[in-house]
Amino acid sequence: MTHLTKNFARPEKNEEVVTFGSLDPSIQELLTAAFQVRQRAYVPYSGFKVGAAFRAKVDGQIFAGCNVENAAFTPCSCAERTAIAKAVSEGATEFSAGAVLAYEPDVFTTPCGVCRQFIREFANADIPIYVAQAIDARIAEKQELLQSDDPVLCTSIFNLLPSSFRTYRK
Ligand code: THU
Repeated sequence: MTHLTKNFARPEKNEEVVTFGSLDPSIQELLTAAFQVRQRAYVPYSGFKVGAAFRAKVDGQIFAGCNVENAAFTPCSCAERTAIAKAVSEGATEFSAGAVLAYEPDVFTTPCGVCRQFIREFANADIPIYVAQAIDARIAEKQELLQSDDPVLCTSIFNLLPSSFRTYRK
């Protein structure tokens, strides 16, 4: 699928780029949930909207979250941490997959370092992470949020955070 990646800095090792249309419907649903929640991003400082969604292993429920910024900057919550904090608060601590949506031209926005550690906390085994671009114009034009030919980066938390710190519990 090299034609999909010519302008992207990805994929890196153990990653691949596929089309949205080739993904399992459950992953398409997860990516769409991340796109939808991204519209609620509270980003008065950066203007950079991010949406994330994780599917709970226990019952398949989707927990979605957006980034929430703060005038003091340090307390900002990234979308990934918002989504996982929502899930854990509702009793879901294991996930079968995650999705992250943001928009920068020709770039897949992958989770920041803090979020990688946060996701790792809840990954007893590797979790696939799907990353796609959210094209805002589609909302106004009432188009499908994600379309069949859209490139999706398929990575995983172990790939994003190799040799990670994890101690105190098994
Ligand atoms: N952000 C996320 O929500 N997730 C990431 O993985 C990267 C960064 C947010 C934080 C901040 O609100 C904005 O994007 C700009 O950094």
